[in-house]
Order: sequence, then structure tokens, then C-alpha cells
Amino acid sequence: MRNHLLGASSFAVLCVAMVLASGSAFADSAVDGEKLLQDNCSRCHAIGKTGESPLPIAPRFRDVMRIYGAESLEEALGEGLVTGHADMPEFVFPPDQVGAIVAYLHTLEVAE
Ligand code: HEC
Repeated sequence: MRNHLLGASSFAVLCVAMVLASGSAFADSAVDGEKLLQDNCSRCHAIGKTGESPLPIAPRFRDVMRIYGAESLEEALGEGLVTGHADMPEFVFPPDQVGAIVAYLHTLEVAE
């Protein structure tokens, strides 16, 4: 019983530490997300607040955000993004990278 209580309180401490860490990491993770999109998507999509897609049929991400919203993209990025278009490879990102990408995508939203 003693051990159980001890375990619970250190779990609570861990949670607080995680919340603090994720709060202060927000700006960095948007930067990471931009990098991920730069590396994986920018040869076809416009990923920034301005500019056209290098591959004209690939939608600009700021338009994708307007149409789908960050939440549906978050789900798609984590579960595998398939567009049914042969030109686009399938991507699946681990949760921390999805978080970073979504944080970055929110910075596009603010610009509109
Ligand atoms: C080789 C080129 C290419 C790359 C690389 C690429 N895409 Fe695409 N993407 C496309 C094309 C072309 C379309 C339009 C597909 C269509 O209209 O059927 C598209 C469509 C999309 C859509 C819209 C889907 C829809 O249903 O309208 C999203 C979201 C998307 N891409 C996200 C991404 C992300 C995120 C990455 C990087 C992880 C990425 N794409 C990388 C070519 C690419």
C-alpha cells in the first residue's frame, strides 16, 4: 500500500514535469515541424505563408489548413496520409513528429 501511494505521487510529479516541458517546447516543435515538412513535402507542396507549390497540382498547405483544419490533418498524419494520387508517397509520422508538424501548421493559420 505504501509503495502504491509512493508510485502515484511520483507519477503526478512526472506529469507536471511533462506539462512544463511541453509548454516550453512549443516554439521549438513548430520549428521542427517546419523542418519535417521542408524535408518531406516541400518539393511538391508550398509549405509556407506565401509561395506557390513546386508541383502545381499539389495543394498549398495553407489552403489545406483552411479546408481540413489542423485536427483532421493531425489524425491523417499519424495514421498514414494517402491521397489516392500516385505522385504522392504515403507518409506515417510518429506522434512527436505529428505534434511538431501540427504546431507549425497552426502558425500558418494565424497568418490568415
Ligand atoms: C511527390 C510530390 C508530393 C510530396 C512529396 C507530397 N505530396 Fe502531398 N500531394 C501531392 C499531390 C500531387 C497532391 C494532390 C493529390 C490529389 O489531388 O489527388 C497532394 C495532396 C496532399 C494533401 C491533400 C489531400 C486531399 O485529400 O486533398 C495533403 C494534406 C498532403 N498532400 C500532405 C502532404 C504532406 C504532409 C507531405 C509531406 C509529409 C506531402 N503531402 C508530400 C504531392 C506530394
